[in-house]
Amino acid sequence: MVLKAELHCHIEGAASVRLVQRKAARYGVDVSGFIRGDKFVWHDFTSFLDAYDQSSMLFRTAEDYADLAEDYLLALGRQDCIYSEVFISTDHAITAGLHPRAYIEGLAEGMYRAKAATGIEGRLVATGLRHKGPDAVLAAARYIVENPHPLVTGFGMAGDERIHRPSDFAAAFNLARDAGLGITVHAGELSGWESVASALDALAPSRIGHGVRAIENPDLVKKLAEEEIVLECCPGSNIALGVYADFAAHPFPALARAGVPVTLNSDDPPYFHTNLAREYAVAATDFGYDEEELTAVTATALNAAFIDEETRRSLLERLSSDKTVRAVDDIFAGSASSG
Ligand code: ADE
Ligand code: ZN
Repeated sequence: MVLKAELHCHIEGAASVRLVQRKAARYGVDVSGFIRGDKFVWHDFTSFLDAYDQSSMLFRTAEDYADLAEDYLLALGRQDCIYSEVFISTDHAITAGLHPRAYIEGLAEGMYRAKAATGIEGRLVATGLRHKGPDAVLAAARYIVENPHPLVTGFGMAGDERIHRPSDFAAAFNLARDAGLGITVHAGELSGWESVASALDALAPSRIGHGVRAIENPDLVKKLAEEEIVLECCPGSNIALGVYADFAAHPFPALARAGVPVTLNSDDPPYFHTNLAREYAVAATDFGYDEEELTAVTATALNAAFIDEETRRSLLERLSSDKTVRAVDDIFAGSASSG
C-alpha cells in the first residue's frame, strides 16, 4: 500500500456512471446518447467533451455537487489517497442553471464530509475552458478572484488545446496569479511540444496539465527539469484518448529520468476506465516503479500542491511516517519468514 495524492482530476469528469444515472432518473433525463450499459460512450476528444458536458448538466444544485465531491473523495480515500485537488468549472455550473456560489459551496460541503469520514484533504482549482475563448476564461478568473473561497487555491485552463494561443489568456492568468492563486494549464496533450513551450512563456505556470508531449523537444525537457515545472501526468487518459498507443510508448519514465518532476493522476476516471490506484499500479507494472519510487511521486505532488505550508508539512509528515511503518513491517516480515 502506497499513500497517494492527486492534482489533476476534473470533478465533472469524476462523476461515476451510477451517480449520473441516479441524477438522470431524478431529473427525468434520457442518457442513452452518452451512456450505454455501465459505460460512457465517446470515440474521440470532441465526443468525449460532449459526453462530459451532457453528464455535467445533470448536476443542478449545491447538493448534487456535494454528493459528487463526497462520492469522489470517498472513493479516493479507499485508494489510500491523502490529498485531492479537483478542477472545477463555473462555466459548467452556470450552463446547468446553478449559481457559481452554490456550486462552490456544494463542492466544499462534499469535501468536508469526505474529510470527516476519511481524513482526506481536498482543494479546488478553478478552471476556464480554452475553447470558450479569452473573454470567457477571463470572466471565470474574475469571478474566482472577486469571490474568494478558502478551498479554492488555484486557477487553470482545460478544454480544447487546439484552439487559441496561450498568450490570448494572459490577462486571466495574471489576474489569478496576482490574487495569490496557484497556476496550472493544460498543454502538450492534444498538441505538441510547442504548445507546452508557449504556455510556459505566456502564462508562467508552476505546473502543466499533461505536458507529456514536451518529450518531443530535448531542450524543452531540460528547461522543465531545470525550472522544476511539475507535470500532472495522466497516462491512462493519454492511452484512452489515443495520444500514445500503449503504456510502453508513454514518456512518463523518460521524463522522470530526465529530471522532470512528474505526478500520477486520473483526469476523468470513469471515461478512461481508470482511477488513481490504477495509475499507480500502471506505474509499477509498466514503468517498473517500486514502492519507494511511487512514494516519491506522491511527495512530488504534495510539494507542488496549491496548499498552505502547514498543511503541506503535515501531509508530508504523514507520508514519511507511513514509509517508516512500511519499512519496519518489511523488516519484521523478513525476520518472520527467515525465523
Ligand atoms: N477537460 C476534461 N478532461 C480534459 C482533458 N483530458 N483535456 C482537456 N480538457 C479536459
Ligand atoms: Zn485534464
